[in-house]
Amino acid sequence: MGSTSLLPNVARRLEGKVALITGGASGIGEFTAKLFHRHGAKVVIADVQDDLGQLVSKDLASPDSFIHCDVSDEENVRSAVDNVVTKYGKLDIMFNNAGISDPFKQSIINNEKADFERVLSVNVTGVFLGIKHAARVMIPARRGSIISTASVASVIGAIGTHAYTCSKHAVVGLTKNTAVEVGRFGVRVNCVSPYLVATALAERNLEPKGEELEKAMEVTANLKGVYLKAEDIANAALYLGSDESKYVSGHNLLVDGGYTIVNPMFAMQFSAS
Ligand SMILES: NC(=O)c1ccc[n+]([C@@H]2O[C@H](COP(=O)([O-])OP(=O)(O)OC[C@H]3O[C@@H](n4cnc5c(N)ncnc54)[C@H](O)[C@@H]3O)[C@@H](O)[C@H]2O)c1
Repeated sequence: MGSTSLLPNVARRLEGKVALITGGASGIGEFTAKLFHRHGAKVVIADVQDDLGQLVSKDLASPDSFIHCDVSDEENVRSAVDNVVTKYGKLDIMFNNAGISDPFKQSIINNEKADFERVLSVNVTGVFLGIKHAARVMIPARRGSIISTASVASVIGAIGTHAYTCSKHAVVGLTKNTAVEVGRFGVRVNCVSPYLVATALAERNLEPKGEELEKAMEVTANLKGVYLKAEDIANAALYLGSDESKYVSGHNLLVDGGYTIVNPMFAMQFSAS
């Protein structure tokens, strides 16, 4: 075997691939769309924010790379996937990234059913529909990588609202169940779980904003001296979308600097020394 065959093409890691990214008009989805494009992928973004989506689409391969799509609506998701296949002949990477949260309430007694159902309709039903329609076109092609954005709230309690925490746990469940089903067709299913990133979603529910929010989050972070940015999550999605992760499936990739593995009692011994 020649030595160069061991070296991946690190310059453009998604050359020739076609990707659909939901929630691509803002935050993590926007960064991921631009990163995938830089790595040679044909990228289409799907979102409910038309103006922002059109703007982001100008930086992608083709100016009509934005599709209006509400991920909780099956016809919207079906048609977004079909649009991509009609335009580019295939779908290699589906990134189910669109997500919302609801306002934090002190007690479950004050939580509204309507808020709970709204969060689940986007964060769970949206991911379900994204996986379903991506699988529909990936199974016959015998290849594909499906990625969803979960959260640190997918593995621990009390970092999001009840609806948000419940929805992100569900994303991991969907990831595992579907990875089992579609693995025999060569299709991989994974999710990525960020700690807090100062995006519109986070800033809608938290104070302060921007860099001040990042600073505040460092206090509770395990990893110090570095802030988590949207591009770090985009890089994780790049890995899961590329062939470098060709044997990774059913995985929840936590990008949290070790936040979710800390036992505070044990950690206190280190801070004392
Ligand atoms: N920011 C964080 O701290 C953080 C942490 C963990 C997980 N996440 C997850 O990351 C993902 C991206 O969020 P973000 O932080 O980039 O926030 P964001 O608000 O910047 O982006 C979310 C995007 O999803 C879109 N969207 C919302 N509802 C939609 C719908 N029904 N159909 C289509 N698009 C819809 C929004 O218009 C927006 O463009 C979400 O799934 C979120 O839960 C975020």
